[in-house]
Amino acid sequence: MHILKVAVALEWRGKGIASWLINACLKRTVKIGVGAAFLEVRCSSISAVKLYLKLGFDIVEKRKNYYLNPKEDASVMTRTLKEES
Ligand SMILES: CC(C)(COP(=O)(O)OP(=O)(O)OC[C@H]1O[C@@H](n2cnc3c(N)ncnc32)[C@H](O)[C@@H]1OP(=O)(O)O)[C@@H](O)C(=O)NCCC(=O)NCCS
Repeated sequence: MHILKVAVALEWRGKGIASWLINACLKRTVKIGVGAAFLEVRCSSISAVKLYLKLGFDIVEKRKNYYLNPKEDASVMTRTLKEES
């Protein structure tokens, strides 16, 4: 599973919406046999990096100049997926 974009409207942030949404997607994905999830995130996006760390993702790689406007490196984060018993 490749997570491309996650965004929560400013006035709704900090209420657990992104956590709920991503967890719901991960649960559906594992049911169809997918074994891992990954994403790229701007290194400066502290809230997003913290969100994914909290959801069990690890930073496994840096991609130099991955983003443009403004130019910035990406952290690649991954998590294995297992069906809960
Ligand atoms: C990143 C984003 C999606 C988080 O959405 P959210 O619904 O506010 O996130 P949650 O309420 O589920 O927060 C879960 C965890 O994320 C981290 N987090 C979220 N906002 C944070 C902030 N402003 N500062 C630090 N950590 C933050 C915390 O670890 C938080 O857990 P905690 O509440 O126990 O501390 C939201 O801030 C956003 O839309 N940002 C702009 C777009 C973006 O950066 N998207 C991600 C790129 S892939």
